[in-house]
Parts: sequence; structure tokens; C-alpha cells
Amino acid sequence: MLLVTGATGNVGRNVVAQLLDAGEKVRAITRDPGARTLPGDVEVLAGDLTRPETLPAALRGVDRAFLFPLFGALGGFFDVARQAGLEHVVLLSSSAVTLPSPGWIGDRHLECESAVAASGLSWTYVRPGAFMANDLAWAAQIAAGGVVRGAYGRASTAPIDERDIAAVAVRSLLAPRPGMAYELTGPESLTQIDRVRIIGETIGSPLRFEEVPAEQIRRQLIERIPPQGADFLLARLAEAQDGAAETLPTVEEVTGRPAFGYAEWVAHRAADFDPGAR
Ligand SMILES: NC(=O)c1ccc[n+]([C@@H]2O[C@H](COP(=O)([O-])OP(=O)(O)OC[C@H]3O[C@@H](n4cnc5c(N)ncnc54)[C@H](OP(=O)(O)O)[C@@H]3O)[C@@H](O)[C@H]2O)c1
Repeated sequence: MLLVTGATGNVGRNVVAQLLDAGEKVRAITRDPGARTLPGDVEVLAGDLTRPETLPAALRGVDRAFLFPLFGALGGFFDVARQAGLEHVVLLSSSAVTLPSPGWIGDRHLECESAVAASGLSWTYVRPGAFMANDLAWAAQIAAGGVVRGAYGRASTAPIDERDIAAVAVRSLLAPRPGMAYELTGPESLTQIDRVRIIGETIGSPLRFEEVPAEQIRRQLIERIPPQGADFLLARLAEAQDGAAETLPTVEEVTGRPAFGYAEWVAHRAADFDPGAR
């Protein structure tokens, strides 16, 4: 039996789907099992990583788990996991941990990795860079008139499809290679301006990127993440204006197939960008 935490999220949802496709028995936790957004053949239990008393039932009979990196809240999971006999954990982490200055976000992920390492369990870390799914934040602006406003439009990243992050995690669950840390990117270096153009071409709607001051974007970001996290992300974008982003072959090396390109991701998520389809 495999347990998936973060199962309703961008990555975890795909981990669940791919494990089911592989014929595995899957249990998932969510804080809101009544929402029923997971496939019917998954055993869904109520579970909250900040409330370890909810975890024994989730971990009973489980030998491998996909662990969502809930900052500062993993200690209780490991106590229960050891008692339950969990053998291997695949942690969703971040490529920020590999930076010379990991910043606020990288430091939080390093704390999660350290907690996993200190747990005594066998582990694999999956360290993606920027998610393509971050661009879903543009959907409302696209629906409202086709102008996407952002800062540092010429900043290049190599964003990754959530299906590819999940595929590497699933390989690491089905054939664990203890002690491996997989750094992942998507296959193309793209600016924000490029990505807006590709979304427009793929959904058949003319779109344009409009540069706005970084402070305006910071105000929007701190509604969702701590100010130190917003400052880290904006500083990374500012740095990324000079030159192409590095692309890594890890997804293909691990899965045996090429990583999804950005246009393929947009086509996959087209309904999320199309107000008529929602
Ligand atoms: N976005 C990026 O570019 C990027 C890059 C590298 C790394 N990352 C890391 O990836 C993670 C985000 O992954 P994602 O996009 O797949 O997640 P997501 O879509 O934001 O979903 C969050 C998930 O966490 C679960 N969750 C939240 N609080 C919980 C709690 N107290 N107990 C149990 N589960 C809880 C939610 O489950 P329920 O609501 O169903 O309970 C949900 O499934 C973050 O740690 C981020 O730092 C992101």
C-alpha cells in the first residue's frame, strides 16, 4: 500500500493518477475528504500533517509514501511513520536547496530534507524548479482581456510540467533508490513573455505581457506567501533576466521519455485558461 500526501495538489494529484495507472493500491489523505476530488479507486482518509493524531490510520499497512513538504510540520509524521513500519519516503522538495543562497524558500525545503534525513527512514528527494502550474495564476487576467501583467518579463526559467515531477516521484516510489536527490527542470528555457505568447497560440486567443513594477507583483504575492518568500522569488526573476535558464535531462533519464514542453502543458490545462470551459 502506498500513501500519497498533498494528494489534491498539482503534483500529488498526478502521483495518485500515475500510481493507479501502474496498478498500485493507493491511499490518500486530505483535510477535506468530503470534497471528493480524487478518483473513486483511491482510499481517501481525513489527514492533517499538523495534527499527528490523524495519521496512524493513514499510515497503517503502508510501506512507501509520497510526502508533501509542509514547512515546519513534518516531525509528527515521522513519529507515526516509524511506528507504522514505513520503509521509504519520497519527499517533494525544491531545486532552491541547491543554490549557493537558497533564500527563504530553499531554507524551508532544506529543513524538510533535514527532517527526513533525521527520521531514520530511507528517502528520495525530488527537487523541481519552477512549476508550469504557477502560470495558472494568469488565468483570470487572460479571461479578463488578454493582458498578463508581471515583473521581469524577460526573465528566463525552465518550468516543469507537474506530470513530470509526479513521474519521477512515482519511479522513486515503485523502484526506490535510497539517497537519490533528483533535480528537475522542464525541457525549454522560456521568458515570461514567451510563455504568454505560447498560451495565446495554444488556446487561440491573442495575448500580451505587460511589464509592471516589481513592487506591484510583490503586493500580490504576499497575499499568498510570506514576504521573505516573495522577495526571494522576485530576486530570482531579476537575476534570470540575463541569459537562458539551465535545462536538465533528469526527467528523461529517470522516466525514459522526454519531459513535456510548455505548449503540451498548456494544451493539457487549456480548460483552466478558457473561461467558457469552466
Ligand atoms: N510552485 C513552484 O514553482 C515550486 C517549485 C519547487 C517546489 N515547490 C514546492 O512544491 C510544493 C507545492 O506543491 P503543489 O503545487 O503540488 O501543492 P498545492 O497544489 O499547493 O497543494 C497543496 C497540497 O498540500 C496539502 N496540504 C496543505 N496543508 C496540509 C496539511 N496541514 N496537512 C496535510 N496536507 C496539507 C493540500 O491538501 P488538502 O488541502 O487536500 O488537505 C494539497 O494537496 C510547495 O512546498 C512548494 O514550495 C513549488
